[in-house]
Amino acid sequence: MNIAIPEKAQQTVQKTIKTTAHRGASSLAPENTLAAFMKAAELGCDWIEIDVQLSLDKVPMVIHDRTVDRCSNGSGAVAELALSSLKQLDAGQWFGQAFTEERIPTLAETLCLAKKNNLKVNIELKLYPQDDVQVLCERISEVITESQCIDTQLLFSSFNAEALKRMQNLQPQIRRGQLWEKIPTDALANLKEIDAYSVHCDYRFLTERQAQQLKQSDYQLYCYTPNQPALVEQHWGWGVDMMITDKPQAYRAILAYAS
Ligand code: G3P
Ligand code: MG
Repeated sequence: MNIAIPEKAQQTVQKTIKTTAHRGASSLAPENTLAAFMKAAELGCDWIEIDVQLSLDKVPMVIHDRTVDRCSNGSGAVAELALSSLKQLDAGQWFGQAFTEERIPTLAETLCLAKKNNLKVNIELKLYPQDDVQVLCERISEVITESQCIDTQLLFSSFNAEALKRMQNLQPQIRRGQLWEKIPTDALANLKEIDAYSVHCDYRFLTERQAQQLKQSDYQLYCYTPNQPALVEQHWGWGVDMMITDKPQAYRAILAYAS
């Protein structure tokens, strides 16, 4: 059955459906690898989200978990492995044979790829207990300065408000987003404190009232990690601006249908 969608409605859909590829296009390639970021670029995504923490020798690395166990053929904590050891690991085979030899990327390599492919990067400042907030922020800041990325191509996010505050000092021109699983009742005061640009929350816990309050205060509102568009149909109506998803291709399918 063919359904004619009026031009005005098509424009609304095009405008409304915005996605960030969570850990890259992580349903199509191993998360947080250059392969996943390239897939996101191929899908036409504007944004990727990456998780950054430090190696033993304080190099900003793109990896989510505290250890390398789940997403590589190695074992141990990222913070206890030097760059040279991390680079020996296969970070693709766990996902599929086609990705054998994929490596854990550095932040510098990722920003280089993003620049070449016109991708914007949401850098999540990932902190585990024992991690040093100041050192993480300083190292990331250095890499960003060296990368010569333009400010609007980057966005910091973190569950750790202190990390965002430090980034405000180190790279004040780069926007900051507060990550919360559930938005707290004193959200607005916290957001003011870090002069936030955006709020990134778990779509399952967001309420219409919270969304309205944040939008009335002019914050961008992003939700993670709805992997089926049907899960967040009502959220767009609440004013949510972007979905951070492992499956940006599922949202592209809606766009293709609507156009
Ligand atoms: O940025 C949204 C999301 O990445 C936050 O949670 O655990 O997937 O890094 P996590
Ligand atoms: Mg993340």
